[in-house]
Amino acid sequence: MAEVTMDKIVSLCKRRGFIFQSSEIYGGLNGAYDYGPLGVQLKNNIRDFWWKEMTQMHDNIVGIDASILMASKVWEASGHVSNFSDPMVDCKECKSRFRADQIDLNAPCPVCGNRDCFTEPRNFNLMFESHIGANRDASSTIYLRPETAQGIYVNFKNVVASSRVKIPFGIAQIGKSFRNEITTKNFIFRSCEFEQMEMQYFVKPGADEEWFDFWKEQRMAFYDKMGIKMDSLRWHQHGEDELAFYAKDAYDIQFLFPMGWQELEGVHNRTDYDLSQHTKFSGKKQDYQDPVTNERYIPYVVETSAGLTRNVLMALCDAYEEEEVNGDKRTVLHFHPSIAPVEVAILPLVKKDGIADMAKDLEKELRSDFTTFYDQSGAIGRRYRRMDEIGTPYCITLDYDTKENGTVTLRFRDSMEQVRVHKDDLVKTIKEATKNYKRK
Ligand code: GAP
Repeated sequence: MAEVTMDKIVSLCKRRGFIFQSSEIYGGLNGAYDYGPLGVQLKNNIRDFWWKEMTQMHDNIVGIDASILMASKVWEASGHVSNFSDPMVDCKECKSRFRADQIDLNAPCPVCGNRDCFTEPRNFNLMFESHIGANRDASSTIYLRPETAQGIYVNFKNVVASSRVKIPFGIAQIGKSFRNEITTKNFIFRSCEFEQMEMQYFVKPGADEEWFDFWKEQRMAFYDKMGIKMDSLRWHQHGEDELAFYAKDAYDIQFLFPMGWQELEGVHNRTDYDLSQHTKFSGKKQDYQDPVTNERYIPYVVETSAGLTRNVLMALCDAYEEEEVNGDKRTVLHFHPSIAPVEVAILPLVKKDGIADMAKDLEKELRSDFTTFYDQSGAIGRRYRRMDEIGTPYCITLDYDTKENGTVTLRFRDSMEQVRVHKDDLVKTIKEATKNYKRK
């Protein structure tokens, strides 16, 4: 099996309209990407899959959608203003900037090759800063949020007061986050604008370790359900040097990306740090009163924090395969049908004698149940290959027999197996196949 390289993924993404470089016609903007027609559908499908698993499938997790802009005090309280930084060095000769912990400071500059040319490491805050309102002074400073989690913490009291939630319960949120990342190589892996899918689970102090183990298990099971190869995932526990000063424990789910094992998602025991900080900085108690015992406490938080855009890259890398079929190369994306951007392609075998019209009608019928795509151009083998390359799990062909007896050919992407099905049974057959889908 041919190796999956980042170059192959980038090239497929551009060729088939998954992901483009931002502002490409102006030379591109580093660390920013645009999602094309297939990319946005894939991203939305992963987002919806997560949302359903984390909210609908739990009776005690509710959602919110907080604004990206928040009072600057939020970021002072959370520690991001003073601590959210990377140590950076500049090359005095070529002016390139590097993360001090990612290069050998005794070696020559990786860009210009000069020696002894680095400045002393300086802390560089990763938050994007702007100003709100007409005045541009310190009082109008505003930050683009670097994580969605704080939007959840500052709404903790609102949610408790307005919903019927009782501890233990969770608040989930999906949205954009921004970090002024200097090292943005590896495509969308680390970008300046990205999306996160975060859930903060509020628990009674003392119950945090049990819930931490529970959420670790749930989050790994999520990727199994999403059809990801489980031997490409592993746990990495944060060592002393990686653990945030307030965190009691933290594990990353790592995925084997083309550049090696890298973080995909974090599960963190954040203790009562965030709610305590917001109590201190806002002067408003962020505690909880047990409705039965009347006991008051600041809850502990178990956080599950996944990158949505990083999940898109993971899904692409995991799904990508080049196969040899009858002496031909076939590039295929083995997406789970639930996240595939196109679920069903409708391909008339011939255009004439009303077969194309029948196929167009069938495509319209199937639209309310599946994301569909109609294609009548080119040899059928080429049309199948085009669908394999974007990960379409089911292709339907119509022919003269369809006119005679209403049956169509249903072709499965992974096995390339073809079965004859009556068109009235298609919805049921496809839904059943998706439910029973097993990754090859
Ligand atoms: N609220 C906790 C938090 O933000 P994090 O480990 O900094 O924790 C969580 O980020 C996840 O967000 C990461 O595991 C990763 O998937 C994603 N992420 C973080 N920075 C990113 C970036 N610059 N580009 C893309 N995804 C990023």
